[in-house]
Amino acid sequence: MRVTNSALDVIGNSTYVNLKTFKHHNLDFKLEQYNLTGSVKDKNALYFINKAKQQGLLAEGGTIIESSSGNFGIALTVVGRQLGHRVKIVIDNKTSRSMKRLLEIYGAEILEIGSEHCDDAGSMQKARMAYAKKVQEETPNSWYACQHLNPMTSEVHYHTTALEIEKQYNGAPDIIVVGVSTAGQLSGISRFFREKYPNTKIWGVDVKGSGVFTKDRHPYKMTGLGLSFTPPAFQWDLIDRAFCVSDELSFSLCYYLAKEEGLFMGASSGAVMSATLNGLQTEASGQTVCMISADSGQRYLDTVFNAQWLQENNINIFNEKECLQQIDKVIEHKKVLNEQIV
Ligand SMILES: Cc1ncc(COP(=O)(O)O)c(C=O)c1O
Repeated sequence: MRVTNSALDVIGNSTYVNLKTFKHHNLDFKLEQYNLTGSVKDKNALYFINKAKQQGLLAEGGTIIESSSGNFGIALTVVGRQLGHRVKIVIDNKTSRSMKRLLEIYGAEILEIGSEHCDDAGSMQKARMAYAKKVQEETPNSWYACQHLNPMTSEVHYHTTALEIEKQYNGAPDIIVVGVSTAGQLSGISRFFREKYPNTKIWGVDVKGSGVFTKDRHPYKMTGLGLSFTPPAFQWDLIDRAFCVSDELSFSLCYYLAKEEGLFMGASSGAVMSATLNGLQTEASGQTVCMISADSGQRYLDTVFNAQWLQENNINIFNEKECLQQIDKVIEHKKVLNEQIV
């Protein structure tokens, strides 16, 4: 068994599981939940902090500030504190109890904004970012990581996740399916494979109601995926197909994967699975597909996996047969010209 000198060594090179219930293709989930704090964002935290230090943006013992209601906030807190920094995380009052509790346990200083900051589609992302910027300006010796606008969100996956996939497949799979929010994973992985393995197709997945692929925004319950604007890391020429999946179908597939495959994964993994099954309907059989599963279902015990929360939010969990019918309803956005989508 491997013994490491630092908790930070438990970041990167997560494991893969091949799904047994889908026979026509070779479907693998890359399980990023086996990183130190349980998500893909550990790699972002380590890369952002080391690079900010190299560039003189973050001094020894300086304070790290970020807006995040989830995985990146937790990862930055753990990695930041291990490297000797104070960490302030801006959340909003929709942040789930368990995410907030984890931030507290790991030692984040939490700053919370209220729902008066919601925009018309119910998002507080821009308000949280503006607040984080203000806190940074008022905090001496501090640095605002700003994952939503920072090019490091893409660089990190070009240098880590993409190489991990190349190593695993001894080259490249036929298709890589990635969820989007900052589009860091999508663009980092895509730029690497576009350069080295141009035949590999890259599919992007978002939640219905988010503003990454379209302007057709409305409130949604998914956390992890989605953003109220198109992030700078996203460009249409980095993807071959773009899918939007409903909260209900994404959550339902998480239940399916837990029961039938023994894989307890977060909400965005259900969306990735739904989009994959929809997209494969128009591909030849026998594709090797690498799907990125960004985190674990443990993060969602008081939301997606809580019957009362589902009822309060009017969300119905589909059974296996209903899931298969709903897969046909996944929306695919096609690019017409560079910027145009339908
Ligand atoms: C669970 C989960 N899935 C997917 C994503 C999307 O990742 P990215 O920000 O690299 O687009 C995130 C981002 O926070 C996430 O937390």
